[in-house]
Amino acid sequence: MKLIPDPEKISVVIEKIRQLKKRIGFVPTMGALHSGHFSLINRARKENDIVVVSIFVNPTQFSKGEDFKEYPRRFKKDIGFCRRLGVDFVFLPDRNNMYPEGYSTFINVDNLSDCLCGVSRPGHFRGVATVVAKLLNIVHPDTLYLGQKDAQQAIIISRMVKDLNFPVKVKVLPTVRQGDGLALSSRNAYLNKQERSVALVLSKALRLAETLISNGQRNCGRIISRMKQLIERNKQAKIDYIAIVDPEQLKELKKIAPGCLIALAVKIGKVRLIDNTVIGCA
Ligand code: PAF
Repeated sequence: MKLIPDPEKISVVIEKIRQLKKRIGFVPTMGALHSGHFSLINRARKENDIVVVSIFVNPTQFSKGEDFKEYPRRFKKDIGFCRRLGVDFVFLPDRNNMYPEGYSTFINVDNLSDCLCGVSRPGHFRGVATVVAKLLNIVHPDTLYLGQKDAQQAIIISRMVKDLNFPVKVKVLPTVRQGDGLALSSRNAYLNKQERSVALVLSKALRLAETLISNGQRNCGRIISRMKQLIERNKQAKIDYIAIVDPEQLKELKKIAPGCLIALAVKIGKVRLIDNTVIGCA
């Protein structure tokens, strides 16, 4: 496994591999790797000749007052995980080689970026789209692997890839959960023991929605209000949003439709967590 911090160098190395007609799978991360990332890396390993993982805590996707400085950085441990999972290249750029002085170009995926998480995280998806576009141009993979836990991010990146004709296939893999239902997230590391048990309200609210739907409820307003009631029983849980939207435009729905996305963000103490489910039936 090779660690490469320089964007130009990794582009050259990968271009040589590409000329040998090898398939390249890419998993972009901000580090603090957990089983959610491992499932992406394992899938990339199965489906490609070469696996590239990037580890970069991207400053442009954090708004003022967010946790950029505190975001868990465990690069040594992450590199160990990558080695064990059979990653070929870890791309570890620093801020200066991703955003050198004078950097001025940003990508905005209109309409999809200002709703749901975009309301309380203005500019977040502009930073995500920009860094992923840069990473795709640097790594030039055949397949990009993303997690469903960040559903809005996956939808925005898929839109950008389509709109800007990036020659890459996007694969979105299911959310990995702990045994009690908590979706894995690097931010779970901020939760104390008691907050961690409160954090189960996110997955419980989603399971409640699924049960209501399988019992025939189709009215989104009613489903959301039952989810709210469940969450608000916990004083430490503050709802940021609960929404039921179509998975392409992210427009709020009145009635459950096949493939709709139920997404929520809840603050547990100071930690903002997200989760979602996709409804197959209708
Ligand atoms: O999901 C993440 O960890 C980040 O948003 C990503 C896609 C690596 C871009 O910085």
